[in-house]
Amino acid sequence: MRFNKQRPDVVLGIDVGTQSTKCVVLDETGQLLGVGQEGYGVQMPRPNWAEQDPDTWWQAAISAVQAALQYAKIAADQVCGIGLAGQMHGVVLLGADLFPLRPAIIWMDRRSANLCATVQARVPPEAAVNIAGNQLSPGFAGASLAWLREVEPGMLEQTRTVVQPKDYLALQLTGEISSDHSDASATWLYDITQRCWSETLAAACGVPLDILPPLYDSGQVVGMLRPEAADVLGLKPGIPVVAGAGDQAALLLGAGVVEAGRGSITLGTGGQITVVSNRPRIASDLRLNTFCHAVPERWYTMGAILNGGLVLRWWRGVVSPNNSLPFPDLLARAEAIPAGAEGLIFLPYLEGERTPHMDPDATGAFVGLTRRHSQEHLTRAVLEGVAYAFRDCLQTLQAAGPVPDHFLVGGGGSQSAVWRRILASVLGVSLQTVEGKEHTAIGAALLAGLGADVFYDLAQAVARAVRYGSTETPDPDEQARYAELHAQFQALYPALRAVR
Ligand code: XUL
Repeated sequence: MRFNKQRPDVVLGIDVGTQSTKCVVLDETGQLLGVGQEGYGVQMPRPNWAEQDPDTWWQAAISAVQAALQYAKIAADQVCGIGLAGQMHGVVLLGADLFPLRPAIIWMDRRSANLCATVQARVPPEAAVNIAGNQLSPGFAGASLAWLREVEPGMLEQTRTVVQPKDYLALQLTGEISSDHSDASATWLYDITQRCWSETLAAACGVPLDILPPLYDSGQVVGMLRPEAADVLGLKPGIPVVAGAGDQAALLLGAGVVEAGRGSITLGTGGQITVVSNRPRIASDLRLNTFCHAVPERWYTMGAILNGGLVLRWWRGVVSPNNSLPFPDLLARAEAIPAGAEGLIFLPYLEGERTPHMDPDATGAFVGLTRRHSQEHLTRAVLEGVAYAFRDCLQTLQAAGPVPDHFLVGGGGSQSAVWRRILASVLGVSLQTVEGKEHTAIGAALLAGLGADVFYDLAQAVARAVRYGSTETPDPDEQARYAELHAQFQALYPALRAVR
């Protein structure tokens, strides 16, 4: 923080998402002054392909910054730093002139699905565990580049450098090529322990090491705002731009989940359960993802479920075909049903499942139906089924190391108190909400504040910006009941797979 000045310093955090780019304006006291957002789509030129034009992100960022500044009603010269966050795993290929050679292949892309096992088999199994720390999944940069090596070989020859979505914005803002450790660790081209690009993994994916960008810490300055970019954004040139972080790491930072041993649960469309550690904590069967945090010397391990809030959205469509039933009404009806939905169990695998099954073909089921079950029982079972899937993730995390008994909780589904209560009792942990929204872009803004010396360190940044809400603790009776029911839930996936 600078002294002897009339107006507070502010920083911008820009998050390049899949559906939109958002910008937040945060002041030095940690107060959120404005938010701007500009949406866009995903191009799917062929089945399983998912691409975006990098210039769309830049144009959306310009609109989002302008909207956020207008909302915040601040003078352009108060902005003293910019931080970035973005969708992870994607690839932006830049040619000799640093223009994109083709549309970006993003994290949702599945074209490399048939290639992943072959590429992973090119390295010894212990290298996948100890160097990558992750299974190679379709949509990861390493997999998409391996696909390009096979199908569009000329493309890699023309590539001067390959970066992630947020790094493309850093390039537009500063003219500098960069990436950060959190995004690099999610490419499957990076050594998660040594914190550098991996020759072994790059060779397996057919990627020349010299096209991988220089790496920075997330809060490190990669360059200064260019006059041309300052002009279009309406900002003053020369302010620092920091490397930023992948969206999961930025989200953790923006929710204050920084210290080793802290945990976070996100109940969005899918769901994630995450624990921070001070060394990489890797599941030897690679059923979890382990990536670098936005903070040096911290890692986070994440179990991801594919079926979170989307299951409730699907269920509302079933019971209320025109979706006219508000979610609070649907949830209130389930509240009166006792824990365990009177013997009804729901498997939520509508979209396959990641942790722990890693099975894209897994399917859902209601098991134990009788005449006494009403629609309200089915709703309760749906909420409980998602919570059991989270418990599977928690157990997978437990097998890889200690987990806390207190988690911060966020995401759309966590707004429901009844779902939070069910989750707390099924998981046997306390769950505390984090106030506000836009934690990912706020995480990016905190990194900007670090790089611009607005904050002394990230602990101070978090203390100023993050506000915690109410806590849900497990109900001891329900917790015991759910422990038994979860054992039954776990028996169902293998049993039903046998009849698929
Ligand atoms: C993390 C992940 C998402 C994407 C999309 O593994 O796939 O967080 O970054 O936002």
